[in-house]
Amino acid sequence: MNILVAEDNQVTLSLLEKKLGEWGYDVYTAQNGMEAWAKLKASPADIVLSDWMMPEMSGPELFKRIRDAGFTSYIYLILLSARDSKQDVVRGLEAGVDDYITKPVDFEELHARIEIGARIVRLERELTNKYDAIKKNYFQTIHMFTNLLEVFNEELGGHCRRVGELVIEMAAQHPDVSEQDFPVLEAAGLLHDVGMVGFPIELLSKRRTEMNGDEKEIYMSHSVQGEIVLNEIDFLRPVAKLVRAHHEQFNGRGFPDRLAGDEIPLPARIVSAAVAYDNLVHKGKISLEDIPDRLKQMSGYQLDPAIVDYLLEINLKKIQEEGEKDFLEIALDDLEEGMMLASDVRMKTGALVMPVNTEMTGSGIEKLKSYHGLSCIAGKVHVIKNSVKG
Ligand SMILES: [Fe+2]
Repeated sequence: MNILVAEDNQVTLSLLEKKLGEWGYDVYTAQNGMEAWAKLKASPADIVLSDWMMPEMSGPELFKRIRDAGFTSYIYLILLSARDSKQDVVRGLEAGVDDYITKPVDFEELHARIEIGARIVRLERELTNKYDAIKKNYFQTIHMFTNLLEVFNEELGGHCRRVGELVIEMAAQHPDVSEQDFPVLEAAGLLHDVGMVGFPIELLSKRRTEMNGDEKEIYMSHSVQGEIVLNEIDFLRPVAKLVRAHHEQFNGRGFPDRLAGDEIPLPARIVSAAVAYDNLVHKGKISLEDIPDRLKQMSGYQLDPAIVDYLLEINLKKIQEEGEKDFLEIALDDLEEGMMLASDVRMKTGALVMPVNTEMTGSGIEKLKSYHGLSCIAGKVHVIKNSVKG
């Protein structure tokens, strides 16, 4: 457990450093708030014990800066001061202080309070680790579903995977979508067509205009079917709601609930726009240059005009990227970390091993080599020239 002590009185600082060291803590010190801030940025502490009055930056100013910076791990802050009026304590608490100790320091009390801080920090770290594990499980579950979709129908799985990526690209630009909304949004993109699992394969490749009455009925049940499947899992219920709404249209002529405009949840409008875009590019085989005209036709009719604007920007970026792309054929043995795939790597059966634009990592390279070793894939892949060093 690291403790940073900020104190301008050298005698007090040395005494605190000595005591904290004796109690088993790793201690580093600063003689004013500014120095403490610089040290903290270089090496974040678990606990900061700071004097109130210091040159250059006071204790409360230092603590306010720490709280505003939003360090990824919680830092427990203890203010040390001779000032103990109610007003001073309130001011300290407003700066984000966790505890307050008055001078002259009673070392027995300080030890007990530091122990409390250390216990809170440990609990916070445990909670963070558990939260990370839950988050990891969440995405593993989503990806298991996506893999199942891909096994059921490669085209459908590919469509869902691309929509999952596109919704995040769009959401990142939208001022009304926060990063906290991304996991649900991404899951909704990845799983929006999960209700199609089990549909006749020939139905999946048809456009709605090519379907007969019965086929249309089956097709139009997939958003509700998807909602039912996902509702079985508690933590996927927010996703289920969006999956139900992914075929609603801005003009109120979608399904299943004929919602219109703002009645359709914003994330569902984003998923819907991503679906339409991917269908234009991959199902309709519309060139990127012709996409804007098609999107403008859908704007205000099928799609939210504000969201179409984001798609137009993304499409423009894709046109530019396509222009800059230059491919190289590379043997698997020559692959290096950081290289970017210029096309999907597929098994000889057509099943996807690794999608285009994947950045190579050590484990990714090993994975491709092992697939080649089993004669599942060829010994060469296409990589984007710009991603090849030297
Ligand atoms: Fe759908």
